[in-house]
Amino acid sequence: MKKPVKVLLLVLAGIAVIVLAIVIFISTAKIPEFEVDYPDLSVEATPERVAEGERIASVICMQCHASTDGKLGGAYMADAQDFGEIYASNITQHPDVGIAGYTDGELAYLIRSGVDRDGKYIPPWMPKFPLLSDEDLYSVIAFLKSDHPMVQPSDLEQPEPKPSFFAKFLLRTGLEPLPYPDEPVVAPPKSDQVAYGRYLAVGKFDCYSCHSASFAKMDPLQPENSKGYFGGGNVLYDKEMNKVYSSNLTMDEETGIGSWTREEFVMALRFGRKPDGTTVQPPMAPAPRITDEEASAIWAYLQTIPVIRNEIE
Ligand code: HEC
Ligand code: HEC
Repeated sequence: MKKPVKVLLLVLAGIAVIVLAIVIFISTAKIPEFEVDYPDLSVEATPERVAEGERIASVICMQCHASTDGKLGGAYMADAQDFGEIYASNITQHPDVGIAGYTDGELAYLIRSGVDRDGKYIPPWMPKFPLLSDEDLYSVIAFLKSDHPMVQPSDLEQPEPKPSFFAKFLLRTGLEPLPYPDEPVVAPPKSDQVAYGRYLAVGKFDCYSCHSASFAKMDPLQPENSKGYFGGGNVLYDKEMNKVYSSNLTMDEETGIGSWTREEFVMALRFGRKPDGTTVQPPMAPAPRITDEEASAIWAYLQTIPVIRNEIE
């Protein structure tokens, strides 16, 4: 063999070995575990909190955790296929397959930071709620522990997640739990409509994550720093795995919702009807339980954020 050919073969073999090593490195990634200090918490379950927790869960948690038996028994998440075979857990009070064993502090840590009671990190297939106010967090916990029919034991057993190569790649990029806040988290007063609207849009109802450019370029602690904040274009899937791009919710007149009225926005958000007569498509779920007052506050807040020109297909 001529010398240059030999050298070339050696280089190619070298590259093949490196690629193989990287593939093995990624495919052996495990979901990491962390040692955390769960907060010492005992939530007082007032009827108001249980009711508000049920409402928050109906807007957020039920989208993934609702089961066919009418409870929060969990479900397969077809729209998370990029991440692998993912199942939202059974979060009813079943002692074996549900979350009966969780303390209030462990639930708080999981919802805010994304670490379960065994120390296992919850990858991005479940959102985290670091900016949810303590009061709203306590409401969710009070609801999960209440005698509401949706959280009574469901015996559905959800399998462990089977992460795809892509998800394992993400795990190798050093994903970490969000820091648990050491200061109280307090929602702004309703009287400050814009601040309150921001709280609803980023802290409580998590609108910005779907409605910014990419889940991978989100900043959960400072949502405004997320790529394409509220400019839409994030890729989501409906149940049949068709791609659906999130809408541009900034006030650009042509590519956003700048030509809508407040009433039109409230109608689209709460009841899924758009000004042109079409309906909002899944996975965007109309949220009738978001009140008119809350929808108006979100609208007021959206008036104040930087306008992004981004044409959505
Ligand atoms: C986008 C889908 C999605 C949403 C929305 C969501 N979850 Fe989850 N949740 C998941 C998935 C998926 C898992 C399983 C994670 C795993 O096993 O890695 C999970 C796990 C959990 C667990 C851990 C259960 C266990 O057995 O350890 C709890 C508790 C939980 N979720 C509560 C909630 C609450 C409360 C809300 C609403 C505030 C919520 N989730 C919203 C997808 C979601
Ligand atoms: C699970 C991801 C997801 C979440 C969470 C979400 N949206 Fe959406 N939203 C979408 C997608 C995808 C569309 C595009 C649907 C379509 O084309 O009909 C959409 C469409 C909309 C529209 C219609 C806009 C238009 O131009 O047609 C409005 C208004 C809207 N969302 C507001 C909100 C608000 C406010 C929140 C928070 C309370 C929110 N969305 C939460 C994914 C989401």
